[in-house]
Amino acid sequence: MHTPQIGIVTGAGSGLGRATVTQLRQLGATVEAWDKNEHTLATLPTDEHVRTHVIDITDESHVSTAAAEAISHHQGIDFVVNCAGAYLYTSLEETTTEQIRKLHDLNIIGPTLVVQAFLPALRSSRGSIVNVASTVALKPTASNSHYAASKAALAQLTRCWALELGPDGIRVNAIAPGPIRTSLFRNAGMTEAQENELLDTRTATLPLRRAGTPEEAAIWIARLALEDNWTTGAIIPVDGGMSL
Ligand SMILES: NC(=O)c1ccc[n+]([C@@H]2O[C@H](COP(=O)([O-])OP(=O)(O)OC[C@H]3O[C@@H](n4cnc5c(N)ncnc54)[C@H](O)[C@@H]3O)[C@@H](O)[C@H]2O)c1
Repeated sequence: MHTPQIGIVTGAGSGLGRATVTQLRQLGATVEAWDKNEHTLATLPTDEHVRTHVIDITDESHVSTAAAEAISHHQGIDFVVNCAGAYLYTSLEETTTEQIRKLHDLNIIGPTLVVQAFLPALRSSRGSIVNVASTVALKPTASNSHYAASKAALAQLTRCWALELGPDGIRVNAIAPGPIRTSLFRNAGMTEAQENELLDTRTATLPLRRAGTPEEAAIWIARLALEDNWTTGAIIPVDGGMSL
């Protein structure tokens, strides 16, 4: 690993993204922490190695302006972590077109816009991209089909980008996390009881019989982002065995 490294983490205000910022800092990296939610972002500990920016990754001009500023400020960028995302827990019958468009806009188009904005900088640094997919991208589950489809798309983008960008020295990988208690489920409009039922049901059958933590996912995200290794196009399950 060559340090110091500088990169972007989207969805940095809470959950896996927030834990990733902490993990990256512990490993000596400098982070541009992006999130749409100014309130959670404001509580993220900052120092000269962590700058926060309120950014909606579905807004193309916002992303490209912020990316240009970050590249200019740091004179380059070494990694991009696409962690921002949303969940949708509805039956097929009840899912609306608007919900599907909004979800795919955030979970598929958003990460694409972020990667596009940093591509020249990543080519210069021979950098790294880490996407956050999901176990449900690999293993079908009921009542979240469009969320699963959006994460399967992100997993496939990861593999395709690994092929396309590999000759430029850019590594592209993803983690596929299993159930982790974060604000994801409440932000999707689920009640506390629905969230508990979903997480309890899923974890009851996991080989490791427990939910994960944001920190357990962040370890893998940071490793893939920072370590100059031979891994690309990998979708690494971090899921207590759920994908088995
Ligand atoms: N928690 C789980 O069980 C789980 C499992 C598998 C995958 N994931 C994935 O992990 C990632 C992080 O989720 P989490 O569980 O930490 O949830 P979270 O809700 O705690 O974090 C998601 C973050 O993304 C931000 N965000 C949402 N829309 C945005 C936008 N348009 N622009 C910028 N930021 C935006 C939110 O404000 C929030 O801070 C997501 O992509 C999620 O799909 C989570």
